[in-house]
Amino acid sequence: MNGISRRDVIAGAAAGGAALLGAGPAQASEALSTLAARAGLLFGGAIDNVARLDPGMTRLFAQQAGILVTENALKFDYLRPDAERFEFGGADAIAAFAKANGQQLRGHTLIWNDNAPDWLKRRPGREVERIFDAHIDRVVERYAGRLHSWDVVNEPFWPMHGKPGGYRDGPWLSAMGPSYIARAFRRVAAIDKTARLTLNEAFCETNHEWGQGIRPRLRDLVAKLQDDGAPLHAVGFQAHLLPHWPYDDSAFAAYAESFAARGLDIYITELDVNDEAYPANVAERDRRVAKRYGDFLRAVLAIAAVRIVMTWQLSDRASWLRDIYRRAGKPAEKLPRPLPFDDALKPKAAVEAIAAAFAARRVTP
Ligand code: G3I
Repeated sequence: MNGISRRDVIAGAAAGGAALLGAGPAQASEALSTLAARAGLLFGGAIDNVARLDPGMTRLFAQQAGILVTENALKFDYLRPDAERFEFGGADAIAAFAKANGQQLRGHTLIWNDNAPDWLKRRPGREVERIFDAHIDRVVERYAGRLHSWDVVNEPFWPMHGKPGGYRDGPWLSAMGPSYIARAFRRVAAIDKTARLTLNEAFCETNHEWGQGIRPRLRDLVAKLQDDGAPLHAVGFQAHLLPHWPYDDSAFAAYAESFAARGLDIYITELDVNDEAYPANVAERDRRVAKRYGDFLRAVLAIAAVRIVMTWQLSDRASWLRDIYRRAGKPAEKLPRPLPFDDALKPKAAVEAIAAAFAARRVTP
């Protein structure tokens, strides 16, 4: 993957105390992917609609990302506009873009109980099961051997749905119960022998009640999947940070490390900083966003098993938070600025903070 194995990291740490993976201060113009590699990481971002990217955005992704993830193109509702069709155009274009730029690619996400199309919701349980298996087979076969990793199941939990075990409600859960999770992992592993199979979850980073509610459930689910021999290789923590919520980054790092202790890799999969609670002044917002990136990354990068850090897009211009913000009819003068690069694709203070966290990476065995 990026040439630095877990063994190298631990050996370095054991030999010289905490292994200094970042190897000193970043050169001003070095790409984040270069700095990340020097710290034993892959860095990248979510990408969508490559056919509609302007040359500046194309250059930004090509220059800064060592790994990409499909923001939407491999989601069930994107691939399956109806029961008959598979629309692979968007995902194929992203796969070709990554290959042309020598980048690795994550597939997000095969199975998610959210955003299921209405045509699927109307089907009876037995048919949903058949669709589940056939979908996984067709999609995984198409990209087998070409992906760094799959988010096989996204966000298995949502306690607010009131389902037993706090599972997220949706067609897959309704048809198969929680067994859909192991079933998905086994089915993918039978087809793609190289992709790292990832369980991706939200909110675990925060001490907010949502995070407090999901953390123990995710821990127990992973233990059961492993005890049952399900082929799970990594846990993804989305890390959509909301600074106006309660956090204890060290406590989250310890929680994440408990998965590493079970032999799993840790991916930070959708990092961004929601700045809505920050002052309107852009310079001040960018400064606080940068600080939040730095504080969070310094805490989690101490974990040797953290292999990937990905932001959810690279430029504010394409952030999902802007879609949400605009749909809510909020004032244009305070558009969200959650990402490392601004609307003009220029680096913000966050780039320096992320680079510094990579450069200063020390891991504890
Ligand atoms: O492309 C259509 C466009 O043609 C149409 O005019 C427009 C208005 O309806 O919709 C556009 O599609 C939207 C798409 O984003 C692209 O902007 C979809 O409606 C909208 O549902 C979709 O939202 C995505 C969301 O997941 C739901 O799939 C966001 O882009 C994406 O950033 C967000 O990502 C999720 C991760 O998958 C899981 N973790 C949380 C994260 C943020 O919600």
